[in-house]
Amino acid sequence: MPHLKIGVFASGTGSNCKAIFESIKKELLDASIGVVISNVSDAPILDWATEQGIPAKHISSDQFNELDKFHEHLLSTLKKRQINFIVLAGYMKKIGRPILTTYTNRVLNIHPALLPSFGGKGMYGRQVHQAVLEYGAKVTGVTVHLVDAEYDHGPVVLQEPVRVHPNDTVDTLAKRVLDMEHQVYWRALDLFSKNQIEIHGQKVVFTNQKEDRDE
Ligand code: GRF
Repeated sequence: MPHLKIGVFASGTGSNCKAIFESIKKELLDASIGVVISNVSDAPILDWATEQGIPAKHISSDQFNELDKFHEHLLSTLKKRQINFIVLAGYMKKIGRPILTTYTNRVLNIHPALLPSFGGKGMYGRQVHQAVLEYGAKVTGVTVHLVDAEYDHGPVVLQEPVRVHPNDTVDTLAKRVLDMEHQVYWRALDLFSKNQIEIHGQKVVFTNQKEDRDE
């Protein structure tokens, strides 16, 4: 596996992108961020990326008459920077087939709940935590998964639970889950960077653990 050269797609503040960047700076993760792409022209993450010296691009399907042209432009932007892995960090758009075909099993997303619960269309941001609290779930968490053509769907790479406290509000729960996301996303990327992962259909197998079991 070559060095992970990551393209981050984000629509907002991109705290997950920043956390991944920190893990690279601290040499916990062997990777680099080669470009940050946002569909939102004034997304704070674009300014942040520019400040870090990371190329920052506003690319939206609204800028193109045809969807094909949008995908062509996205792909050429990624290719120009030798991006071999895509990380979604609060990206509010569905990823198109041309990207998924070019980056098969190389597009990762993070979701602020334990999928397949509390996921799918419309389940983002505060809505997720609101639904968790309304349901009365006692545990929620974080899911890192490979992206396929459905919302919040694809092989699960890592999950971590977060306990729901009786006095939690959407805000307190959202904060604890986001803190957990920042600890988990780079660890999922580390598995790819170290080539410790195999994907068999919907299942992800950790090759380091497979060896342990075989011994
Ligand atoms: C996170 O909660 C993530 O799970 C979801 O979108 C949010 C993005 O947050 N996909 P940030 O922009 O990375 O701060």
